[in-house]
Amino acid sequence: MEIYAKRFTKASLIYLGIGVLLGISMAVWPEGIARLRFVHVHLNLLGFMTMMVASVAYHVLPRFNSNPLPWPGGVRYHFYLHNIGLAGMIACHLLGGVWTGGAIHAALVLFALLTGAGIFIMIYNLYGVLNVES
Ligand code: HEM
Ligand code: HEM
Repeated sequence: MEIYAKRFTKASLIYLGIGVLLGISMAVWPEGIARLRFVHVHLNLLGFMTMMVASVAYHVLPRFNSNPLPWPGGVRYHFYLHNIGLAGMIACHLLGGVWTGGAIHAALVLFALLTGAGIFIMIYNLYGVLNVES
C-alpha cells in the first residue's frame, strides 16, 4: 500500500477516536458542549469518513481499473491540505468567533479553502482513474 494511502487510513482512525470520544462527551453533557457539534461532525465525516474513503479508493481504484492515477504526486498534497485544513477549521471553531466575522472567521475560511483544494485534488485523481474503460 502506498505510504500516503496508509497515512490517510491512520489519520482517519485517529479522527474517529477523537470524534467518538467527543460524541460521548456531548451525550453526557449536552448543554455544556453542544456547541462542539461542528467539531464532532467534521472530525467524523471530514476526518474519519472522507479520509478512510480516500485511502481505500487511492489503493483500490487504480488496481480495479488497471489505470494509474493521473497525478500520483497529488495524493501527498491532498494529505497535507486536508489535514492542515481540517485541524485549522476545528481550531478556529474552538477559538470562538466563527459566525461573527473578523480575523478568526477569515482564518476559518482560509482553512476551509485549503481543505477544499485537497479534496478537489482527490476528485481529479479518482475521476481520472475511471476515465479509461477496462
Ligand atoms: C459513540 C459514538 C458517537 C456518539 C456518542 C455521538 C454522539 C452525538 C451527539 C450527542 C450528537 C449531538 C446531537 C444533537 O445535538 O442533537 C451527535 C451529532 C452528530 N453525530 Fe455523532 N456520535 C457518535 C459517533 C458519530 C459518528 C461515527 C459519526 C459519523 C461518521 C457521527 C455523526 C454525527 C452527525 C452528522 C451529527 C450531527 C447530526 C445533526 O446535524 O443533527 N457521530 N453525535
Ligand atoms: C471543506 C470542507 C467543508 C467545510 C468548509 C464545511 C463547513 C461547514 C459549515 C460552515 C457548516 C455549518 C455549521 C453551522 O451551521 O454551525 C457545516 C455543517 C455540516 N457539514 Fe460541513 N463542511 C465541509 C465538509 C463536509 C463534509 C465532507 C461532510 C460530510 C461528509 C460535511 C457534513 C456536514 C454536516 C452533517 C453539517 C451539519 C452539522 C450540524 O448539524 O450542526 N461537511 N459544514
